[in-house]
Amino acid sequence: MSNYVDALLREDSRLAQIFNVEADTLESGSALIEDPFPGLARLREKGSVQKGALGDLLGYPGYHFQHHMAGYPTYSTLSFKATNQGLIRNDLFSSRIYYKLGVVDGFGETILNKGGADHLRYRGPIQPMFSPQAAESWWNDTIIAETVEALIRDIETKGGCDLSLDLCARMPVHVVSAGFGIDPEEIISFRIAITGLLSHNATPQQRGQSMADARSILLKVITDRRSRPREDIISKMIAAPIKDGDGTIRSWTDDEIISHCILIVLAGGGTTWRQLGITIYALLNHPEQLALFMANRDMAGDVILEAARWHPTDLVFPRIVEQDTELEGVMLPKGAMLHLCLGSANRDPARWENPDRFDITRPVQRSLAFGGGPHSCLGQHVSRQEMVVALNAIFDRLPNLRWDPEQPPARLIGDLFARGPSALPVLFG
Ligand code: HEM
Repeated sequence: MSNYVDALLREDSRLAQIFNVEADTLESGSALIEDPFPGLARLREKGSVQKGALGDLLGYPGYHFQHHMAGYPTYSTLSFKATNQGLIRNDLFSSRIYYKLGVVDGFGETILNKGGADHLRYRGPIQPMFSPQAAESWWNDTIIAETVEALIRDIETKGGCDLSLDLCARMPVHVVSAGFGIDPEEIISFRIAITGLLSHNATPQQRGQSMADARSILLKVITDRRSRPREDIISKMIAAPIKDGDGTIRSWTDDEIISHCILIVLAGGGTTWRQLGITIYALLNHPEQLALFMANRDMAGDVILEAARWHPTDLVFPRIVEQDTELEGVMLPKGAMLHLCLGSANRDPARWENPDRFDITRPVQRSLAFGGGPHSCLGQHVSRQEMVVALNAIFDRLPNLRWDPEQPPARLIGDLFARGPSALPVLFG
């Protein structure tokens, strides 16, 4: 994997452009929100489910939320119970919404927008490739361990760095792309192409070019693996047939592999970058929790789950109401849009004591950071494995890790759709 490590460590000015929470937020047309949680708590006290789009209910001026659709009646869920129901009852609150939000136009049909048996037919064959066992063995032993080791070896001699860019961003995009067998030299170009597909400001021509770039990178891998299979996920997809609704058993088409590959690399790169950054931010800003973690080094898994509960990177997911339905006493009309606020659900005092406190010792209870129900995060075990290995490497190998006082303080920023640290400027040694 030496050319993999060379590509992973190479200075590339494009990285700072594509992994920039502030620029991503502004580019999407959203306002930059510093701390949405006090507003969410006030709103949750008024009711579990409320009429209105979340940004409007919170009063963000000029707010342009990616999941907003003008003219659609919209409701928002704030409590754990209502949000969990919204995720679990995918038959009533469906993911067909992703057609309306342009995601399917962006990169094609995938498990993200499918429902019921159709969703299962596609998710079933790929699920084992992302199981806890696969994450801890194949993903870890083939890619994650080597990626984190190379990055930390590069960082540990420097005395200081921006952990957000130098580790949190580089690790997952390389891990997930290498997992699919993408040429290491094309990983960053691929990332640029797939983010361009959903870019708010791109023209149809620019989106067409992004799709052409992404397809050409993937088609090389697919064509090669159809005749010379290896161990990567594209080879495994080719070997894992789909059973159609009429019982026909067939291979994935090139287009199906391409759209799923784009979805998974897109979902797997940005989220883990921001969530790992949030975890490091939380530890460094809570010295008593950091001391606990340093004294109990087998707690990395709990630390990650608590940080994801306390501040999930993606606060809101959308759904469409399939039939007139009552949810927690509120009537939702067929065709309405639903904003499921995982961020508010994760701080519901009905489920968590003192929910605003970041506390790595609290009894672990399932939060909604990775979703729930049929569409719960496919990559959650891979992501957790990446974050555990990275967190342990950071706190084992970068002694006396602390904020760099010469740099602007790190902030957790973004909109409601995607949040993360502005940067993580640290010193060590
Ligand atoms: C900390 C990191 C991550 C977080 C917080 C996260 C969160 C989520 C959430 C909340 C959903 C549910 C979306 C919905 O219900 O509409 C989801 C779905 C999904 N995630 Fe993740 N994710 C993370 C990492 C990953 C990784 C590493 C991968 C791939 C390797 C991945 C792949 C997916 C896919 C494919 C789906 C769609 C599943 C479906 O519709 O059946 N995610 N994720």
